[in-house]
Amino acid sequence: MTSLNTPSRVTGHRGVPSLAPENTLGGFRKAAEIGVGWIELDVTLLADGTPVVSHDATTGRCGNRNELLQQCLPAELDGLNMAARLPDWPTEPLPLLTDTLVLLHRLGLGLNLEIKDHGLPAPTLVSAVLAALDQTAFPSEQLLISSFSRSLLAECQLQAPLLRRGLLVDDLPCDWHQQAQQLALFSLHVHWRQLNYLRVQAIKQSGLKLYCWTANEPAEIASFWHWGLDGVITDYPQRFNEIHDVE
Ligand code: G3P
Ligand code: MG
Repeated sequence: MTSLNTPSRVTGHRGVPSLAPENTLGGFRKAAEIGVGWIELDVTLLADGTPVVSHDATTGRCGNRNELLQQCLPAELDGLNMAARLPDWPTEPLPLLTDTLVLLHRLGLGLNLEIKDHGLPAPTLVSAVLAALDQTAFPSEQLLISSFSRSLLAECQLQAPLLRRGLLVDDLPCDWHQQAQQLALFSLHVHWRQLNYLRVQAIKQSGLKLYCWTANEPAEIASFWHWGLDGVITDYPQRFNEIHDVE
């Protein structure tokens, strides 16, 4: 039996967006090329329930045209270039989650899969993500599911209790410990500015893994490692190279 693989200390946020277009297959290849062990990406659904990789509900911020994904069918994504803001980068389609999972598995990358709550029903969203994981036989030991939405995480707990779950929070809620118990969390993912010594200590003493996002300057979180931080989710994994060996 394969053992669970703990996410690496440095996770590329949406791939490696400081070097390549975010949440694209080319971006994930770039992350692997520079030696990143795990990447984070965001998932939502098309109109027919196909899971796709996108941070936003629409494509306009990164793409060459604006589509509302919940109203798009797969064929309507033809010609969409999600690298439109990087003129020197080749065209990147909006990735289907299944294609992405196949690529990440082939590259040996671990995956922090963030499920975005863009108002879709939690059971539909979660079952579509789980179907993609099943269809591609993505290894669960290489996977951590995260979300800002407690109802999405509760749905994951219901449908796939054995998959690891991480709760994303901006600020740490007073009842974080209770939430962690209710959702049987593996990890808390807290905005780095909301962490301090006492909070890191309390979270670590609870037995949870602790990841901070989106920290881009190693110096700003340098002391966190000594306090017990497990990992950073960053746009600049290349700046954190020396962290890989810290124990
Ligand atoms: O997983 C950390 C980070 O991705 C959460 O924020 O908005 O970039 O998805 P966002
Ligand atoms: Mg995210």
